[in-house]
Amino acid sequence: MTGISLAGAGVLLNACRPPSNSSNSSSSATNDENKNDTAPGEATAVDVTATEDLMREHGILRRTLLVYQESATRLRQDPNSVPPDALEKAVTLFRVFGEDYHEQKLEEVFVFPLVKKSPGTPAMYVDVLLGQHARGREITEYLLAITKLDRIPSHSVEPVAKALESFVRMYEHHTAIEDTVIFPVWKSAVGEAELDVIAAKFEEIEVQLFGEDGFEVALKRMEEIETALGMSNLEMFTAPAPPTLR
Ligand SMILES: [Fe+2]
Ligand SMILES: [Fe+2]
Repeated sequence: MTGISLAGAGVLLNACRPPSNSSNSSSSATNDENKNDTAPGEATAVDVTATEDLMREHGILRRTLLVYQESATRLRQDPNSVPPDALEKAVTLFRVFGEDYHEQKLEEVFVFPLVKKSPGTPAMYVDVLLGQHARGREITEYLLAITKLDRIPSHSVEPVAKALESFVRMYEHHTAIEDTVIFPVWKSAVGEAELDVIAAKFEEIEVQLFGEDGFEVALKRMEEIETALGMSNLEMFTAPAPPTLR
């Protein structure tokens, strides 16, 4: 995949922001200025710990998985109901924010090496998680190639739906293990004081890659994708009432 580089990450994530966001850009600049005004160690409204940061990034990735699952269902019902460019934006978001940033720059550099040294089960998970990062990239590559086309070829509809579903299945398990096993082990291995230093490093990397708060950029992008696919109404996902017991 040559079309996406980290250097262009911020540009890519920003590419589809509506013009009205120009006011947001200036407000984000203002936020940055305010941030600089904040005394060291002073809490701000957006202060997050390193583990909270990783977990809220999982929140963005899970929302992408919801888009993937819904797209797979719709593709099987009516292939024309999923505009390839909207799906491509979701796949690009997962590549840039999930794979190139969250996985490659944070988990594989800061989290996994330390967890790997911990005795017992968590260390054994690391190789599997790394293998899943690699498989995820392969699937992303495939999805990017297919969604670049004007329409998904009819012979590819079922393979794409299957690829989307297997990706969702893998990452539901992957992020659940990271949230409940890997991050807690990492947090206690790092220690509270060092955790603050790492949180600041995460922030620095985000600004370096995205030009501003990467989470905020990704969140806005996610909302645009959900709106384009008619998935922005949370209520549509409320489960129906269960059957009455007789
Ligand atoms: Fe991961
Ligand atoms: Fe993760």
